[in-house]
Amino acid sequence: MSKDLSKHLSKHFTRRDVTRAAGSAALGMTSAPLAGFAQTPAQDQPKPGQASAATFPDGFAWGVATSAFQIEGAVNEDGRGRSIWDTYAHTPGKIRNGDNPDVANDHYHRYRDDVRLMQGLGVKAYRFSIAWPRIFPEGVGQPNAKGLDFYNRLIDALREAGIEPFPTLYHWDLPQALQDRGGWQSRDTAKAFADYAGYMARALGDRANNFFTINEFFSFVDIGHRGFDKMVDGKKIRIELAPGLRVSNARLYQVRHNAVLAQGLAVQAIRANGRAGIKCGPADNLATAVPAIETPENIRAAELATREMNAGYLTVILEGKYTDAYLAAAGKDAPVFTAEELKAISSPVDFIGLNIYRPAAYVVASEGSSGFRSISFNKSHPRMLSWWHLLGPEAMYWAPRQLQSLWQAKEIYITENGCAASDQMSAGGIVDDSDRIMFLRNHLGHLRRATAEGVPVKGYFHWSLMDNFEWSEGFANRFGLVYVDFRTQKRTPKLSAAYFREAAAKNAVV
Ligand code: FCB
Repeated sequence: MSKDLSKHLSKHFTRRDVTRAAGSAALGMTSAPLAGFAQTPAQDQPKPGQASAATFPDGFAWGVATSAFQIEGAVNEDGRGRSIWDTYAHTPGKIRNGDNPDVANDHYHRYRDDVRLMQGLGVKAYRFSIAWPRIFPEGVGQPNAKGLDFYNRLIDALREAGIEPFPTLYHWDLPQALQDRGGWQSRDTAKAFADYAGYMARALGDRANNFFTINEFFSFVDIGHRGFDKMVDGKKIRIELAPGLRVSNARLYQVRHNAVLAQGLAVQAIRANGRAGIKCGPADNLATAVPAIETPENIRAAELATREMNAGYLTVILEGKYTDAYLAAAGKDAPVFTAEELKAISSPVDFIGLNIYRPAAYVVASEGSSGFRSISFNKSHPRMLSWWHLLGPEAMYWAPRQLQSLWQAKEIYITENGCAASDQMSAGGIVDDSDRIMFLRNHLGHLRRATAEGVPVKGYFHWSLMDNFEWSEGFANRFGLVYVDFRTQKRTPKLSAAYFREAAAKNAVV
């Protein structure tokens, strides 16, 4: 890894990468006060003991999220092709405890029960993903009608239950056939993705009004194509996701570029093929800088940091250009691109989805050229169960707010938020997940601060509806509001599910 790239990578923090975001970008310092900073109106302030006063705007969508590979199972049914995750998960040593994802939550067969489960939680919106290899088993070419039928049945069941479907088109399960032809290292994959997106908009767009294009660029690009080593509890562990490659710097920059190109081309294809009125946008894990101390200077510094840490993804998507600092850091490894591609990448989106688990960094203003300084996370900084999951609910306020102040986002969804917990079922069949409830309440509180200030957040999807296959961590890390016994497939709502139901019913922090 070149020094520059490693510097950029270590700055570009995700939930899986507990590194320090050292400010080094060549950005000019500015101390301009933040435009549009509105104080929470006094009448909206929750009063002690009156948490229900903390309501969200009317029409706020209360949802849950899942993804295809993590829950569906039925990997060999109805003509589904192989994905890079099938290959990766069946490579010995890659998945914790050697867990096998072939059945997962058996959702492919139990989707009706799962829709009923959602109804019971008062869910009004469901974010799920479509397995590209079910639709195009070879990635391109002939579509597979039986694969499509599954999503038709699912969407019909959701609509009958009064739940709005929010399909995601790419949640990391690339058809293996495309990987064999270079995968995301090839521009052709971006084009294939656009064709698939256009096809889905035609096929489902009569009943699905909203599509998320791509889930978490950094995760499948940087962690999938480079990965990193991390010391966890005194042991060095390898952090990676499928396809589990270690490509050169130049290739990594190019993969990033191809991924955002896929995003832009997919938006164009959805517009060209779908009914007018369909809305679409990415669901990204914005690396979010939180001002350590709220002063106008630090608030501005945090914005600069967020813009720079996301230069290869949301920044280029929303601005149509790579930042100077990003290209300077890339040097000779910078991606090869054309002005026309930048135009495609920045095709206007209707909304931005944010997956928020934690802040990337806490920052303060600095006199240095970047204008910000990231402060280290203390060793004692509180953490949720997952090793990467430092606790910082303020990100739920700052991420949407920065999306609005940096890029004037018109509509924002929280597309993921949640935590793993050491859930245990009691002899009486109860799961009291105190930490998840604490996590939820705190995150919703910060989110509500954003909506009270007029930041256009339209809904919240909890990750996840139910415990599922957590990628390299297998079934060990339970993220669900609903507990799943993977031997019997029995679903049991945890206490956090009751919390969620109450919050959704009251449209408030409870
Ligand atoms: C996100 C992924 C999602 C799940 C959660 C815990 O990064 O998008 O599939 O694994 O983390």
